[in-house]
This record gives sequence, C-alpha cells and structure tokens, in this order.
Amino acid sequence: MRVLLLGGGGREHALGWKLAQSPMLDRLISCPGNPGLGTLGDVAADVDPEDPAAVVALCRERAIDLVVVGPEGPLAAGVADALNAEGIPVFGPTSAGARLESSKSFAKEIMAAAEVPTAGSATFRDRETAVIHLEESSGPYVVKADGLAAGKGVLVTESLEAAIEWVDGCLEGRFGAAGSAVVIEEHLTGDEVSIFYLCADGEAIPFQPARDYKRLLDDDEGPNTGGMGSFSPVEDIDDDLVDWTTVHVALPTLGELASRDIDYTGFLYVGLMLTSDGPKVLEFNCRLGDPEAEVLMPRITSDLLAVLNAASNEGLTGHGVTWSNRAAVDVVLAAPGYPESPVKGLRITGLDHIENILVFHAGTREAGGRLVSSGGRVLNIVGLGDNIGEARDNAYAAAQHIEFKGKQFRTDIAAKQEGTSP
Ligand code: AMP
Ligand code: GLY
Repeated sequence: MRVLLLGGGGREHALGWKLAQSPMLDRLISCPGNPGLGTLGDVAADVDPEDPAAVVALCRERAIDLVVVGPEGPLAAGVADALNAEGIPVFGPTSAGARLESSKSFAKEIMAAAEVPTAGSATFRDRETAVIHLEESSGPYVVKADGLAAGKGVLVTESLEAAIEWVDGCLEGRFGAAGSAVVIEEHLTGDEVSIFYLCADGEAIPFQPARDYKRLLDDDEGPNTGGMGSFSPVEDIDDDLVDWTTVHVALPTLGELASRDIDYTGFLYVGLMLTSDGPKVLEFNCRLGDPEAEVLMPRITSDLLAVLNAASNEGLTGHGVTWSNRAAVDVVLAAPGYPESPVKGLRITGLDHIENILVFHAGTREAGGRLVSSGGRVLNIVGLGDNIGEARDNAYAAAQHIEFKGKQFRTDIAAKQEGTSP
C-alpha cells in the first residue's frame, strides 16, 4: 500500500514509524513531514496539508491507497470530505465530525443530546449577555473560545475582571474566527485523564492509557505548553474507567453523530475530569494526543496499518489492537524561549550514538546537511523498559546526551510512577 501521512510533528513521526513496520506498506509519503519522517519514506514538504484540493492532487499524483491524518487542522479544513468525495480512503473524520474539536459549543450540543456527563455551559456571541452570565455566577470562572485556538483559548480564573477581559479578547478577535463565540462553563475539580479511541462505523476500540505533562517546568510550574512529556501505561486509569468511558462517552457520542448522518472514522480523544460526582468530559479532540502518541505507538504490537485501513474501508469488525507489556516514557526537549518565542536554527548534536530509545522529531529541519531546531518542541526522546522506572532511566540518559544550545526539559516526567509495569 502507498500511504500518505498528513502532519509533521512528533505525533506524526511516531505514527509513521509504526505504519512503516507494516508488511502491507510499500511506500510512506508524509506531508509536510519532517527530517525524522524523511528517514521512513518520501516527504512532500511543499504541499499544504490543510488545502483539500492540493491533498487530493497529491494523492492522484502519488497513487495513494490510504491517507492517515495526524493533526486537527486538515480535518477541520475539510480534507477528509474532499478525499471521501474522490473515493480515496482516509483515516480521519470529515469536517462535520471534527467539529467535536473545532467547536466547543457543538461538542456541548452533542454531549447534551447523547446524555454524556460534562460541565454545565452556555454559549454567547455578544458581550452583554456573557458579562451578565459571569456576574450572576461565582468563581472560579471557565471561559473558552469556541473554535480552534491551538490550546490557548481557555481561561480558568478566580477573577471576574480577568474572565470579562477574556470574553472581550475572544469577541474582539484575539483568536480570529475561533473566538466569535465564547463558551462559559461550570468549574470542575479533580484529576484529569485522557482516553483515546480508534473509531469507525459507530465502533470504538480503546487504546491503552497515556498521560502527558502540560506545564513547562518541574512540579507543574510555569506556563502551559503543548506537552513536555508523557508515559504509558498509567496505573491510576484502570479498565473500569476505560469501560465506563466507552459506554457513557465514546459510543453515545458516535451514536449521536450517526443520528445526524455524521460518520466518524478516526481517532477520538476524550479529556475527562474525575470529579466527586463521577467522570465528566472536559473536551474532545479528533486526533491522538501529542506527546501521548509517542508513547502509545511503540507499545502497539499489532499491525496499525491493517486496522486503520480496515477502519477506512470495510470497518473494524474482526480487527483489534494488541499491546506489549513494555512501558514507555517520553521526555520532550524544547527550544530555549518555548513556549512564547522559541529560538530556531540551533544545531542539534549527539543523536548518532544513542541506544535503547526512539527519537521522534517534532521541531527540526535540515540546513546545510545539519539538523537544526525549527520549532518549540524539538525532539521527543522515548525510552522503553520492563517498567516505567527503566523506561524513564533510558529516556533521561539520552536526553542528557543530545545537545543544542539552551535545551529545556522537565526532570520529573513519570517520576512518581517508577514501579508501574504493564
Ligand atoms: P480544554 O482545552 O477545554 O480541555 O481546556 C484546557 C484545560 O483547562 C483543561 O485541561 C483543564 O485543565 C482546564 N479546564 C477546562 N474546562 C474546565 C472546567 N470546566 N473546569 C475546570 N477546569 C477546566
Ligand atoms: N497532549 C495534549 C494534546 O495533544 O492536546
């Protein structure tokens, strides 16, 4: 098979690495790809993965049998719709399905209809009613831009003034069209967990749990980031919670979409808060998490391409995903200045002599035959082991060894999970 993988971050390098192990694969082409993906196949760096017509043309030119979409951007832009219209199999939902992520108010509407537990909420398009609503409630306040805002559209605050300012910022265009509506939510407290599914035809296969670290610095200090590390398995997410989420969240959500003629084929990411009233959904994403994918892919023992191909064609019946009993820990090496203004063009060295680990590229590019940084999160260093402690030791040994100026990484990824083994 000839597979086109859309995206060019660490999640896509991990997906591509796993797909490349399939005996069904003849050729992997990634768009826009990255230097890591370039070692696994061809890279179409000059095609915009968010341009549906350009992606269809690339598929025709390269005789693509299956498109796998990593990030949400191409999905929200309607790439899967265009591929479906051309009869090109694609793993990733249509723009209507991707609204679970690209419109928080749509996700709330689906959850209400499907009776999925979530925080109470109201959606506003004008300032006045939003402000009255905030003034009539009590803090902490949760205010979210409705649309895609690269994870930056959410404010949780004790301050009424700050909440009102956030409403103003959204409605005045700080997040572009994504902020033309705001969702104000009931504040929830509890531990957060994410559960991932592989979905097609109303069926949902749960993945093993993974957890990420969103804050820049140790002990969850510092600003929010895209994710500074991750690990899998996760001891405190047990099978009962996964089963509960399948029955009370994933299947009813897919059912509600189907009742609206929306066929959802793709990954579904369920962000939950474990409240004293039981688990409640914080958000949906129409993709795998990044950096969670980087610890999940190395733990899958079955043929991922076979199951994604089945999902995108005849359906999941008879297919599944099997998991190794090894643990994985990902330490993200980030550029200095990340997340506000990462320094680009820094030369990366030390990648040649590392063993027992996987390196998934995120923000790198080649310049004059050398590897340099090109984004905030530069490399994912994934250690494997018989338990989390061993995987962690392997990841950190390599994280020390790889160098670029001003390299930042957390030193406490998976530190509290040492004994966990699959
Ligand atoms: P979201 O992108 O909607 O998941 O929100 C980003 C982060 O904001 C979540 O991971 C939570 O930490 C926090 N958050 C979102 N919604 C709520 C809520 N209703 N109550 C408390 N915290 C929330
Ligand atoms: N790791 C969180 C995300 O991918 O949104």
